[in-house]
Amino acid sequence: MAGWLVCAVIVASAPQDRAVDAAQVAKDRRVVETLLRLKGIKLNSNPKWKAAVQRHLRRIEGRPKYFELVERFELRDESPQLLQLASAAKTPSATVSAVRLLLKFEQQGAIRQALQQHPAQAPGLISSLGLAGGVVVLELLQPLVTDDKQSLAVRSAAARAVGRNLRGQRFLLGLVRSKKLARDLHFTVADVLFASPAAEVRDEVARYLKLPAAKGKPLPPVSELVQRRGDKRRGAEIFQMRGTCAKCHKVRGTGKEVGPDLSEIGSKLSSQALYVSILDPSAGISHNYESYIVVTAEGTVLTGVKVSESGTRITIKTAEAVERTFAKENLEEVIKQPTSLMPEDLQKNLSAEDLVDLVEYLKTLKKVPAGVPSAKP
Ligand code: HEC
Repeated sequence: MAGWLVCAVIVASAPQDRAVDAAQVAKDRRVVETLLRLKGIKLNSNPKWKAAVQRHLRRIEGRPKYFELVERFELRDESPQLLQLASAAKTPSATVSAVRLLLKFEQQGAIRQALQQHPAQAPGLISSLGLAGGVVVLELLQPLVTDDKQSLAVRSAAARAVGRNLRGQRFLLGLVRSKKLARDLHFTVADVLFASPAAEVRDEVARYLKLPAAKGKPLPPVSELVQRRGDKRRGAEIFQMRGTCAKCHKVRGTGKEVGPDLSEIGSKLSSQALYVSILDPSAGISHNYESYIVVTAEGTVLTGVKVSESGTRITIKTAEAVERTFAKENLEEVIKQPTSLMPEDLQKNLSAEDLVDLVEYLKTLKKVPAGVPSAKP
């Protein structure tokens, strides 16, 4: 059997056209199927088998079969791809499979390195680690929650991930009790702990933290809000009027554009992420919408998102959607802010019901397939 395999691989010629490519694909698949049937195969002892398996893996990256093969043949050198999948795979089950294998291969060092070197992907990777769970994950992530060198997005994702575990919840509660929790994590941690299945955790956190109030009444945790259904028409009205959202967001051509266009936000963010974007805007500031304070030589102070920047000039758009361009030589300072330009207390004038309606509406804002006329909101 193994002899046949070796032949099959050696016979493979350099692919010159599609037909040869297809033959190679089929051959690789046969090699893989056969290897799977053999026991105790050490891929590293046979470079040709290994090459066939690797070519095959590249074609099925991220699919269930991919993870099965990586695990079966203990392919530690797939770790870079696994890290990539753990941060940005299309489905939660794929991200969890990727993280599970990384942990099985004891790649904590590589995970730590990836978290440091790719800050933009770090929150995604951290959420996947949280979904995979386990003590090793707590060890990796707990230090991030209190590491003030990390961005709020990273610390907040770490707190949520840690909070998926009861031991992690007690760790968070300990930080709250000993006043070691940073102010900007209060929302995240309250949101996690008020939703704890353990009554004593919920009772104790209530002594220290509050969930944001909507029309004077504390909101339920996000995990509870996402279970509710709302009225999307009312939600659309709230978006335009009382919610003031349209002062900063465009939807299908109407509204001002201080923050991102939300015409397709229902395809981009989950319900949970929509609630968090509204209740705790600074926890996940979208790329390109970081806010800046500029101080001019005459002492004028202006806050806004950066629209553009060249070697000599910088353009800032304020919360009122006013664009101002400055020559850099006339500026005293340009300071990047850790907080979002989106106000933190937008829910203040809304009730829980209003908020649920608003999110119901945002969920309907989906990518419209080309050629289909857009539905009226
Ligand atoms: C003063 C301006 C302002 C107002 C008012 C405002 N936003 Fe925002 N919003 C922003 C900015 C700027 C961002 C981008 C930075 C960030 O992600 O926090 C943003 C981000 C968002 C995002 C995340 C978008 C993404 O692509 O990830 C959502 C969702 C959102 N806002 C919804 C709302 C809703 C709903 C309201 C009304 C209740 C609202 N916003 C009111 C300025 C505003």
